[in-house]
Amino acid sequence: MRDINVDNIMDAVQKSWAGATDERLKTLLQKFIFYLHDYIREVKLTHEEWLAAVQFLWSAGQISDDKRNEFALLSDVMGVTSLVDLINATPGATIGSVLGPFYADDSPAVPFGADLVKTNEGEPVLLTGTVRDVDGRALPGASIDMWQTDIEGAYATQDPEQADDNLRCKQACDADGCYAVTTVLPAPYTIPMDGPVGALFTTTGRTPWRPAHYHFIVRAPGYMPIVTELFFDHDPLVDSDAVFGVREPLVRHVGPAGPVTFRLERQPARLLDYDFTLVRDTGYRPAEQLHPGQ
Ligand code: BEZ
Ligand code: FE
Repeated sequence: MRDINVDNIMDAVQKSWAGATDERLKTLLQKFIFYLHDYIREVKLTHEEWLAAVQFLWSAGQISDDKRNEFALLSDVMGVTSLVDLINATPGATIGSVLGPFYADDSPAVPFGADLVKTNEGEPVLLTGTVRDVDGRALPGASIDMWQTDIEGAYATQDPEQADDNLRCKQACDADGCYAVTTVLPAPYTIPMDGPVGALFTTTGRTPWRPAHYHFIVRAPGYMPIVTELFFDHDPLVDSDAVFGVREPLVRHVGPAGPVTFRLERQPARLLDYDFTLVRDTGYRPAEQLHPGQ
């Protein structure tokens, strides 16, 4: 096409992808062009603004490496990660939430009732519950993978001061589908602020805080794994999560522990109990495959 103008450029770019043999990829590209061109026309993007956007993406690439993905963070703070999670939620299962960048799949396997508090400061909390199917039946083959911050709001995987495996674990549920660890309450923290996403937060005055939370991946053979988080009803930050991960059913009350009927390595002062629901899958696959690149 030799006469490109404002009126025909979108069509020309869309047609340039028309030869894609993968129909889904063709749709994704053509729709993307449609909305992107529409956006540029509507806001009447200037050269300076376009250059700033290109520089922003360049900086995101510069600060990313095999441990850090600034593009995933951009997706999180734009609500894109949560929107993809929400439109792909499995009906009947516990609602999912963001995986985040601090997950590591090599957490130590700990026995039922293990103590994760060790030398951490903070009140011991019993974190317990049952993994069930949609009919409420316990899933004895289930397991949890849990990670959290310390009381300073730092994860072991980002903080050289902490033991590498601090406050993260894998646990096989007992014969009743039950999990139990004694741990501490995590603390709120800000998203990584030293990159272009952080700079955008600073420029715009947007709050970078995430409410305190426990992260979980819950699995059972033959069931869809879930990636989710639990938040606390005493935390005012649940109403302003920087990555839009809070869902009402995941906001829980931490109460007094009361008498505990099973053996624990450390007695808790407080209790948070939560039952997870998994839905059958036709083929079991690890949850992290559902969240590539984080
Ligand atoms: C997290 O919960 O670990 C997290 C999620 C998204 C961005 C930054 C941190
Ligand atoms: Fe987190």
